[in-house]
Amino acid sequence: MSKFNQYRREYTLGSLEEGDLNPDPMALFKEWLDVAVAAEIPDPNAMTIATVNAKGQPSQRIVLLKDLHADGFVFYTNLGSRKAQELAHNPHISLHFPWHMLERQVRVCGTAQPLSRSAVAKYFFSRPKDSQLGAIVSKQSQPVSSRQMLLTQFAQLQQKYANGEIPLPDFWGGFLVKPEQIEFWQGGEHRLHDRFEYTKQADTTWHIQRLNP
Ligand SMILES: Cc1cc2nc3c(=O)[nH]c(=O)nc-3n(C[C@H](O)[C@H](O)[C@H](O)COP(=O)(O)O)c2cc1C
Repeated sequence: MSKFNQYRREYTLGSLEEGDLNPDPMALFKEWLDVAVAAEIPDPNAMTIATVNAKGQPSQRIVLLKDLHADGFVFYTNLGSRKAQELAHNPHISLHFPWHMLERQVRVCGTAQPLSRSAVAKYFFSRPKDSQLGAIVSKQSQPVSSRQMLLTQFAQLQQKYANGEIPLPDFWGGFLVKPEQIEFWQGGEHRLHDRFEYTKQADTTWHIQRLNP
């Protein structure tokens, strides 16, 4: 018999009531992100992002939320990567913030649009030099023969750019995810969790409804 049955607990940390809801889900998201940061959970800005390929096959991976705008969520990545290639064909995306230490999760559904080169450059040049070089060396999501190959290329670039500015590679970029739906989930006793789903309306206001747990 599986031992997974022993991993069972009640969710009692809090509740989410109608009165807690901000009419703007991005404002509520910011409140929840601030709580996750204050709680010192590891990587509070880590989010799982799901994309789909041409056959409709979803895949997911973690990336870091690097900026929060009034109209969306920003992350950076390699534009040749599987995720970026999939987004080029189908910009629909889902984000998931797994704050289970807080008995919370947030799901976002929306579309991803590429960031301008100037926005990408601003972030790229703010990164530590070695992270910039790592981004250049990695043909992300492509097969590579060995780790040694990567380390050799990295060392060569370290020498090459020892005294100069590292150029922004054209295969590196970022996306703004514009949400169409955002769900806030707070665990509740007896599996009676609180769930509120915001859906963007044609007039850009948000319709809010409570969902069954
Ligand atoms: C905590 C954490 C943070 C990560 N942050 C990023 C990130 O910001 N951007 C990125 O491209 N990959 C990031 N990765 C690596 C991705 O999960 C993934 O392996 C990579 O982007 C390739 O994904 P793809 O082949 O689906 O495109 C992170 C992984 C972890 C575990």
